[in-house]
Amino acid sequence: MMVPLKRRKVVSSHTESCDGDEIKFPQVVLFLLERKMGASRRSFLSHLGRKKGFQVEDKFSESVTHIISENNSGSEVRTWLDSQVKGQTPPVHLLDISWFTESMKAGHPVQILDRHKLQEQQITEAEVKVFSVPSYACQRRTSLENHNTVLTDALSLLAENAELSNEEGRGVAFCRAAAVLKSLPEQVTSMKQLKGLPCLGDHSLRVIKDVLENGASSEVESTKQSERYKALKVLTGIFGVGSKTAHRWISEGILNLQQLRDSGQTLNRAQQAGLEHYDNLNQPVTKAEADTIGDIVQRAVVSVLPGARVTLIGGFRRGKQTGHDVDFLITHPEEGREEGLMPKVVSYLEAQGCLLYQKTTRNSYLEAQGGPGRPSSNMDRFERCFSIFKLHKEDKQGAKQGATETVNGDPASCLHTLSQKESCEASDEGSEEEKSSTHRRWRAVRVDLVVSPISQFAFALLGWTGSKLFERELRRWAGHEKSMSLSSHALFDSKQGCYLRATSEEEIFTHLGLEFIPPSERNA
Ligand code: CTP
Ligand code: MN
Ligand code: MN
Repeated sequence: MMVPLKRRKVVSSHTESCDGDEIKFPQVVLFLLERKMGASRRSFLSHLGRKKGFQVEDKFSESVTHIISENNSGSEVRTWLDSQVKGQTPPVHLLDISWFTESMKAGHPVQILDRHKLQEQQITEAEVKVFSVPSYACQRRTSLENHNTVLTDALSLLAENAELSNEEGRGVAFCRAAAVLKSLPEQVTSMKQLKGLPCLGDHSLRVIKDVLENGASSEVESTKQSERYKALKVLTGIFGVGSKTAHRWISEGILNLQQLRDSGQTLNRAQQAGLEHYDNLNQPVTKAEADTIGDIVQRAVVSVLPGARVTLIGGFRRGKQTGHDVDFLITHPEEGREEGLMPKVVSYLEAQGCLLYQKTTRNSYLEAQGGPGRPSSNMDRFERCFSIFKLHKEDKQGAKQGATETVNGDPASCLHTLSQKESCEASDEGSEEEKSSTHRRWRAVRVDLVVSPISQFAFALLGWTGSKLFERELRRWAGHEKSMSLSSHALFDSKQGCYLRATSEEEIFTHLGLEFIPPSERNA
């Protein structure tokens, strides 16, 4: 086969430098560091070297064997070198200018003596804190204390953009990379610390390097500015609108809420409510508001089924101080008593004027004879209700004291709190002023309710506490490492061909061969 022209050129240049000088010492490839030396002196010395038959590179590459610097310490050069290469640095001599001048005088590379070598403090190597974490997020503890928010924000934005663009694989990859950084005990300051960390692909490493060196990632910044991303974000910010719908609208020239309103698009019930309460639903829900809603839900549930229990799940169970919604899991200690509970709770809440929107789905989960296999959607087979609550603003203080006792507590303590009617109904609705969502006396809040039979409660609790990545990783661990199938209903052991029962989250972790990770450390 003919060697391509380009390649031949490169091959022949091995004996010639770019200045056209002959290379006499092909095993020595020099690079002069401009730092502190200055561009003109560097250029002069490079030229001199080439005249003497040395190969001197203008750009640093992994083929460089000798780095020459002037007035730099060993650790300064090492830091610079680390910023040039990803992962393991290639073996290279870090030399003082004296080695270069002596070699020029001698007309050949002189033997490297100790005095030529830049003194690298031994501690520099040891000082670099290299992190090490297990590769599945469910094997790690990830608290809310994130020491790398700048990096994780950048990666999370790319993850979000990938997901909004229906590139799920890429989205998950960025999400995993962000999760690894979230779990680190300290701030990352150098690429070198990342050596050996799992889930950091080339793309993520490039983004991290960009942020470490320049304070920001160009890819992230341009994504943020892009009209497409901005439109996807605004449109999917409407409750009931997913990325598919948003893409369709964008292709029809709808980029913002006003254009959507003007377009005359047919919206389903969820989307109508989402558009109507857009501002409220995009304003984070506080813990205090979550507690107030917990109190309202608790009172509704025990009114229609005494003895039923309500548990706060989702982000608030993980200790978050704000959320995009509030999630509750409802059960009853006697198996079967929970059946048909959701419609009753919803009717009760509706009669109290608490609901601006609700959509209830019925339980469709049945343990199949051969095991659950991999249901297409693990999460959606309980009796559940997606809703929008009408939360009276004065409740924030009013119901607070009662809230902690009533959620999961004695139903009788509800008697001490405000009546349900007071909690939900806006007293002076209707005046012009009240129409603006910021001035009126209530706000809309997204609330998810799930009902589980007690026999599946531990699985539901684990499956609905999140984070989403933590859940995904638990299922991946179960499948890939244990030949088990985990859902929010059950755990099936494929090797033994049976379901593994559990009455607590701890038992499920034990079945899975994992150390128990408490909810507050599942913020992957
Ligand atoms: N979930 C689910 N099925 C859905 C939506 C969510 O099983 N269709 C689960 C998620 O896996 C997660 C939990 O419900 O474990 C909570 O989801 P969500 O409310 O979306 O997220 P949070 O972690 O609560 O975060 P936020 O505070 O933003 O609400
Ligand atoms: Mn939530
Ligand atoms: Mn939710």
